[in-house]
Amino acid sequence: MIIISKEEVHQALTMPRCISLMREALTGLEEGVNTQSVRSTMAMPTGLLGFMPCYLGARHKFGAKIISVYPENSKRGLPSHQGQVLLFEEETGEPVALVDAGAITDIRTAAVSAAVTDLLARKDSRHLAMLGSGAQAIAHLEAMLAVRDIQEVTVWSYPKAHGEQYVENMKKKYPKLPITLCETAADAVKGADIICTVCHCTDPILFGNMVSPGTHINAVGACTPTTREVSSDLVKLARLYVDQVEACRAESGEYLIPLKEGIITKDHIVGTVGAAMLGRIPGRRSPQEITLFDSLGLATEDVVCADALYQEKLAQEK
Ligand SMILES: NC(=O)c1ccc[n+]([C@@H]2O[C@H](COP(=O)([O-])OP(=O)(O)OC[C@H]3O[C@@H](n4cnc5c(N)ncnc54)[C@H](O)[C@@H]3O)[C@@H](O)[C@H]2O)c1
Repeated sequence: MIIISKEEVHQALTMPRCISLMREALTGLEEGVNTQSVRSTMAMPTGLLGFMPCYLGARHKFGAKIISVYPENSKRGLPSHQGQVLLFEEETGEPVALVDAGAITDIRTAAVSAAVTDLLARKDSRHLAMLGSGAQAIAHLEAMLAVRDIQEVTVWSYPKAHGEQYVENMKKKYPKLPITLCETAADAVKGADIICTVCHCTDPILFGNMVSPGTHINAVGACTPTTREVSSDLVKLARLYVDQVEACRAESGEYLIPLKEGIITKDHIVGTVGAAMLGRIPGRRSPQEITLFDSLGLATEDVVCADALYQEKLAQEK
């Protein structure tokens, strides 16, 4: 059994490499080469435990991510997502690798958003708004810079001190990039071409009247039927793309809440980002459209990363 640590994941899973792996994962799922069931989650006293299994046909592997999500962990100086991906060989059913899942989750989530942004955002997108300032905000800034010529970044976060720390750190990392902390989410998204929502919030922080025509939104933070970051009116205004339709119908507050309110209908989902990548459904159709990617996070994304890292380490050890 090969063990791959958090540090090794961060070293080997570079953003450009992970973006390409995520295209493979999402198109493979759409084509039925990869299969997965919707994750099961179990509430814990102060967090939750998620179990996410999948099969990768082309890679002849299967596996599962087991991850704890503890939203208050940043107060303890710990990551909110911790766990492992266990990878198995298809032919024998033998477990072959255990890979740090917190690091994979951080990188692959942003890499998925990058692959989708490259597909759906206007090519001339320059202004990025980041709502949130945790691990996903760090990874998403790197991811957005990888796919668009970002010239300006505006940030909003709650609590403000968290946002101040983030802006200070990101200015050190990207000294030439203008990064500004804003007082409100509305100020941060004013005139933005791309918006990433990466907050641990339960109620909407982004509303229709705050968003300019032509914007692309990656809604990443909320992953349960009762939580969301994007308001019903904005979901209705936007063309809604999802990572997996079954997961969206089971887990997405961004979709289920406006559906229950009667503001959107079931056919409001345009389709999956994998289908758009394969050209099976249209992507952006005009510079004025608002496109919205509702990211829930999929086992296929995690296990593809785990296998790529396993293959590499196996080759190094030979
Ligand atoms: N879609 C996916 O695949 C995926 C993957 C990983 C994480 N997530 C979700 O993304 C979110 C961010 O994850 P992370 O790893 O960056 O977490 P983190 O703990 O590192 O950061 C959380 C961020 O949310 C902010 N926040 C906390 N409470 C808030 C509130 N009430 N209103 C607004 N902002 C608030 C914090 O200040 C911080 O900026 C989480 O909700 C997480 O579950 C989604």
